[in-house]
Amino acid sequence: MMDKKVYIESYGCQMNVSDSEVVAGILAKQGYTPVDRPENADLVLLNTCSIRDKAEQTVLNRIDGLQHLKRKNRDLKLGVLGCMAERMREELLEKKQVVDLVVGPDAYRSLPGLLEEVGSGQKAVNVLLSREETYGELEPVRLGSNGITAFVTIMRGCDNMCAFCVVPFTRGRERSRDPRTIVEECRNLVEQGYREVTLLGQNVDSYRWNVDSRGDVKDPDQPVTDFADLLDQVARVSPLLRVRYSTSHPKDMTDKVLEVMARHPNICDYIHLPVQSGSSAVLERMNRGYTRAWYLDRIAAIRRILPQAAISTDIITGFCGETEEDHQQTLSLMEEVGYDMAYMFKYSERPKTLAARKYPDDVPDDVKGRRLQEVIDVQNKQSLARMQRYVGREQEVLIEGVSRRSAEHLFGRNSQNAAVIVPRTMPDGHDLRPGDLVRVTVSGATSGSLKAEPLAIVHRREPAPEPVGA
Ligand code: 5AD
Ligand code: SF4
Repeated sequence: MMDKKVYIESYGCQMNVSDSEVVAGILAKQGYTPVDRPENADLVLLNTCSIRDKAEQTVLNRIDGLQHLKRKNRDLKLGVLGCMAERMREELLEKKQVVDLVVGPDAYRSLPGLLEEVGSGQKAVNVLLSREETYGELEPVRLGSNGITAFVTIMRGCDNMCAFCVVPFTRGRERSRDPRTIVEECRNLVEQGYREVTLLGQNVDSYRWNVDSRGDVKDPDQPVTDFADLLDQVARVSPLLRVRYSTSHPKDMTDKVLEVMARHPNICDYIHLPVQSGSSAVLERMNRGYTRAWYLDRIAAIRRILPQAAISTDIITGFCGETEEDHQQTLSLMEEVGYDMAYMFKYSERPKTLAARKYPDDVPDDVKGRRLQEVIDVQNKQSLARMQRYVGREQEVLIEGVSRRSAEHLFGRNSQNAAVIVPRTMPDGHDLRPGDLVRVTVSGATSGSLKAEPLAIVHRREPAPEPVGA
């Protein structure tokens, strides 16, 4: 087989990063090796995001920016994968002459055939969505990996129909991956020296395997597995493997999941629980399936069962019909919860969604922007306050790599997912290295990271494995 080179660029969520690794796995069987510059590739793939208009504009500009490479290399092929492929197939093929290949999130197994078509000078497309595809048994090729932390997809699609969200249209119906393949993938990762997995799904709390859409058991010889069961199984793979997950949904998050987290010290004390708005009226229009009071009850459950846990969230400002009073309720909810971190966005109308069909996008852009800034200001204060609580305390940090700012410092995270910067050299003269689990004392905090002094290595990988992937 001829040795060919593929360059893959991922936009949007962690799921896309994980999907790109599945794609790299499929292409590896076709003789493709990953490269880290488009100039060196025979095939350039953009794995794209449709969540907000800005995300799409970024990729459309990137496509134009890659045009010159095709003039230099006549054989170079350019493909668009992921959510934009699904949502904008026609526009891409009609308006972007440079695009040879358009493949949606459920169609990656057909890549070998599609690449053959492309090789013979045609354009190739597959954007079929599936009710079954989980890429369950496929072996991903880790791209740009630090060799320590990895993403593992546990389910695909989303059945929630939040009014603002394009994901149900681009990623299709919800389906859960066979837990045996998930556990197997995590085992392999540990053997290769990995020390942390993040289990990914659009709504992990509705993970349910071995039941059909009517709720009937599929295979009577296999247990029905929910997310709490899966989390328990993955935590048992190895005490050395840290386990994280994303994303929870407030309407579905159970105490059973929190109790599994409390039982396993290697499941990290961190929960991402998107609230979107603090106003029950807005939540209703968003079709989120919970009220402010319900959400605060879930926060109370986390504080009760996992008192050490950090909580982060997603917030949208300026959703259809959002009044000043609604906005004030978002600010007051933020004060009440005290988030460790938040991703904050201006509402961006997405074609075909419930909101686009039903409600006018009636909050003026400058008002959306001002409200966003107020939300960001509250969060910055809270992030700093939450980070300062660690100062003077001992923490365990998994070292992931070298700090971006200084070669003399390493970078890692504590269980609560806070970034921690530690000096490379311990007081006894020994050097720390990526993969070490280190006990530290936190000496300083900003809203974005902690500074810490290393005390002792709790666990070290021996021998240090070579980082895998490109
Ligand atoms: N406009 C703005 N933000 C959005 N999100 C999802 N859809 C939109 C939209 N149309 C945000 C939500 C979600 C996160 C991944 O992106 O907060 O939780
Ligand atoms: Fe973007 Fe959502 Fe698609 Fe992820 S699932 S790539 S966030 S649109």
